[in-house]
Amino acid sequence: MKIRLDKYLADMGFGTRSQVKQQIARGSVTVNGSSAVRPEQKIETDSDTVFYCGVKAAYEPYEYFMLNKPAGVVSATEDKKERTVLDLLQERKRKDLFPVGRLDKDTEGLLLITNDGNLAHRLLAPGKHVDKVYYAEIDGKVTREDAEHFLAGVDIGDEKKTMPAVLEILSSADRSRVLVTIREGRFHQVKRMFHAAGKEVLFLKRIQMGPLKLDERLRPGEYRRLTKEEVEKLC
Ligand code: URA
Repeated sequence: MKIRLDKYLADMGFGTRSQVKQQIARGSVTVNGSSAVRPEQKIETDSDTVFYCGVKAAYEPYEYFMLNKPAGVVSATEDKKERTVLDLLQERKRKDLFPVGRLDKDTEGLLLITNDGNLAHRLLAPGKHVDKVYYAEIDGKVTREDAEHFLAGVDIGDEKKTMPAVLEILSSADRSRVLVTIREGRFHQVKRMFHAAGKEVLFLKRIQMGPLKLDERLRPGEYRRLTKEEVEKLC
């Protein structure tokens, strides 16, 4: 891929377009060993070697991170009052990252963060029906009738019932433990489905989205880059 030198450097987080232009004008940037003076110089991202103030710049068109979202953080790129999921990412290069979909502020678990808009569309577009699996703890006993109700689709007050959802009961007690698989991403969907059954969600954590499973080694707030295999499966 060919890209302008100033965009290449700005994309990789070396500064704003005007900051990197200043450095180029000062002669602080080299391309394949020669000083680069024109910000519009085209860089071949796969083969050219660029140094910025002595630091080698390796171009990455896309970044993919798996975050174990902790409670108390909002799924947004920026927020005036709250800490966002992007505030948790220290090592990113790209400035154009965003979370793929939203988890509620009090929901934990798997959140994909990337700048790959096509992938996000494939995972989120309403017609795609990508499975999302949640682990939940519920106030009160969850019953087989609840599972049948979920499978038939639940009226949560929207125009249409939810699509069939699979409710697997891990334990039914005063505080039940369940797995729920949904194929849509409606606002507060899991909480509203239980609410329609007269029950409240006490804890909610996403553990899978399509083929991507939350890495159990990640504690809340921790993240890692996706492996090549994980990216390939998603794409
Ligand atoms: N369903 C919810 O109710 N909340 C979430 O964060 C995700 C799914």
